[in-house]
Amino acid sequence: MVVGVIKTVILGAGGMLGTDLCKIFPDAAKLKHNDLDITKREKVIECIRRIKPDVVINAAAYTDVDGCEGNQELVFDVNGYGPGYLAEACSNASAVLVHFSTDYVFDGSKKEYLEADTTNPVNAYGRSKLLGEQKIAENMDDYRIIRTSWLFGANGINFVDTMLKLSEEMETVKVVNDQFGKPTYTLDLAHKTAEIIGIEPGIYHLSNEGVCSWYEFASAIIDNTIPCTSNEFPRKAKRPTYSALVNTKTSPMRHWKEALNDYLKENKA
Ligand SMILES: NC(=O)c1ccc[n+]([C@@H]2O[C@H](COP(=O)([O-])OP(=O)(O)OC[C@H]3O[C@@H](n4cnc5c(N)ncnc54)[C@H](OP(=O)(O)O)[C@@H]3O)[C@@H](O)[C@H]2O)c1
Repeated sequence: MVVGVIKTVILGAGGMLGTDLCKIFPDAAKLKHNDLDITKREKVIECIRRIKPDVVINAAAYTDVDGCEGNQELVFDVNGYGPGYLAEACSNASAVLVHFSTDYVFDGSKKEYLEADTTNPVNAYGRSKLLGEQKIAENMDDYRIIRTSWLFGANGINFVDTMLKLSEEMETVKVVNDQFGKPTYTLDLAHKTAEIIGIEPGIYHLSNEGVCSWYEFASAIIDNTIPCTSNEFPRKAKRPTYSALVNTKTSPMRHWKEALNDYLKENKA
């Protein structure tokens, strides 16, 4: 990487995390889906060759977990092969690639997951994201793969906003109390991403601290929620029961409750 001004490209700049990354990296080239489709190998390679960045941050993905089940060809292209093309392009350009993956690469049988733990996704989304990780590692060395979980942020459809809306519309809101993870504020994650670029390559687990169920998360947002089981809410895609990411490599992020309070103050006051 050059010393001095670091030239950065953000992909998926129109998404929930991408929008917050754009705030933290204001000088970056910001590419939305319309600007570059990461499933187009030649275009990806040409784009990175032309811009000659030092760092590429990829927040582009197909993220509808249930939608992935019926759309697997597209999903594997976007979440699996696309990141591989980016890695190829970054390797050619000697750029660092920062890519986001998910707690859903794990099956939930172990509860807490360290960076080196064995992956075993239980749904198409998780399998496609795992393929993305593998394609990156096949194509380059200087990558940072950031696995994160349960994102909420100002620029996307997220659980916090959904709860606020349902709370107004319904007398009580039933939320599952048997799936556990770590809610994470996209603005916190975007800040932390800046730190990860400067340290050694590899896989990182970055979430706000604190494990909770979706019901416990909901209870911190609204007053009229009641717990239920996943059996009462059948979904197309199976979810891991317990997929808390443990960060053993960098300083911990703050607790999700503190992050949630700031999110609500900044966006919902
Ligand atoms: N959301 C979560 O709870 C969560 C949890 C764990 C990990 N992650 C990971 O974190 C990252 C960011 O997630 P997010 O929630 O911010 O996602 P998001 O809001 O769904 O944003 C994804 C962006 O990618 C774009 N995109 C889709 N297909 C593309 C393609 N072929 N080429 C270029 N851009 C494309 C989308 O554009 P269009 O909308 O125009 O298609 C969208 O702007 C992803 O890697 C995701 O897998 C998310």
